[in-house]
Amino acid sequence: MFKVPPISADRLPALLRAMPKAELHIHIEGSLEPELIFALAERNGLTLPYASVEELRSAYAFTNLQSFLDIYYAGASVLLHEQDFYDMARAYLGRAARDNVLHAEIFFDPQTHTERGVAMETVINGLHRACRDARTELGISATLILCFLRHLSEESAFETLEQAQPLLDKIVGVGLDSSEVGHPPEKFARVFARCRELGLRLVAHAGEEGPPAYIWSALDVLKVERIDHGVQAVHDAALMQRLAQDRVALTVCPLSNQKLRVFPDLADHNLGKLLDAGLAATVNSDDPAYFGGYINDNFTQVFAATHLTARHAYQLAFNSFEASFAGNADKRVWEHKLKETFERCVEHDY
Ligand code: ADE
Ligand code: ZN
Repeated sequence: MFKVPPISADRLPALLRAMPKAELHIHIEGSLEPELIFALAERNGLTLPYASVEELRSAYAFTNLQSFLDIYYAGASVLLHEQDFYDMARAYLGRAARDNVLHAEIFFDPQTHTERGVAMETVINGLHRACRDARTELGISATLILCFLRHLSEESAFETLEQAQPLLDKIVGVGLDSSEVGHPPEKFARVFARCRELGLRLVAHAGEEGPPAYIWSALDVLKVERIDHGVQAVHDAALMQRLAQDRVALTVCPLSNQKLRVFPDLADHNLGKLLDAGLAATVNSDDPAYFGGYINDNFTQVFAATHLTARHAYQLAFNSFEASFAGNADKRVWEHKLKETFERCVEHDY
């Protein structure tokens, strides 16, 4: 492992912004900024229950996960046509590239759209075309992860998988999101087993608001390769050991945790504890349009609030590449660029 040189605290924010990174936990519907919601509503002849962008933004005051999800699903209802999905994803990828994201694995919630009569191919083709164009126009690599909504039934998840089957070459894996408590991973054991047979990579939200038991079953029943959030793992020492030993990555989202009151304050966030216990934590934005910041805002704000160091910064960026579903050749190139950025920083060269 690269020996991270000492870097003073005042130079850390610039380094965090400049360092290359992967984003592994971003819900594309959560990147829909109020301005784009209004523009798409107008383009599609829809009337929103808010008079202005400002009025919509002022409704973003959440008390827990469910209070956010209610407004997030309402915002996504302006997406009707392939071009709408394209515009949303292309806007996110442009923003991510400015934060020096080299690779993004993008979640999408097809049931939010198919339940409103939008075809699966409309959703996937729009998002996929944006990923393809971003590669050539921005040099950013991007793949798609289809998420099943856990508040809906197993039957609905199977139906969703069937609709996606002709388009599986356009996605890298599947995930599990939405309301966690009361919807344990076991509910989707058979769907995930089928996805595994189909060669899809597997991830799941677990331990965001839900108990450590949900993380155990995501690992042992669903057989996922990464845990999205996972911050409740600190309440179970045996689980911490398992996650560290198996290098199971956690895709942590500090500003989301702050806004949804998973922690009383950003200063109380346990990211440092997870890293110091040897877990492969990463930093991500979750739903940046709703939680007040993209990936670099998540890095700079959690570092400022919890006094993490350059060594933690390197580890987080390294983990993000290592835990991605990209090939080994890409990972080595990105990790080399990461090392170079740290060396340049020591030489005061950027
Ligand atoms: N869907 C979008 N953001 C989510 C989150 N933070 N947790 C669960 N489901 C989500
Ligand atoms: Zn999430």
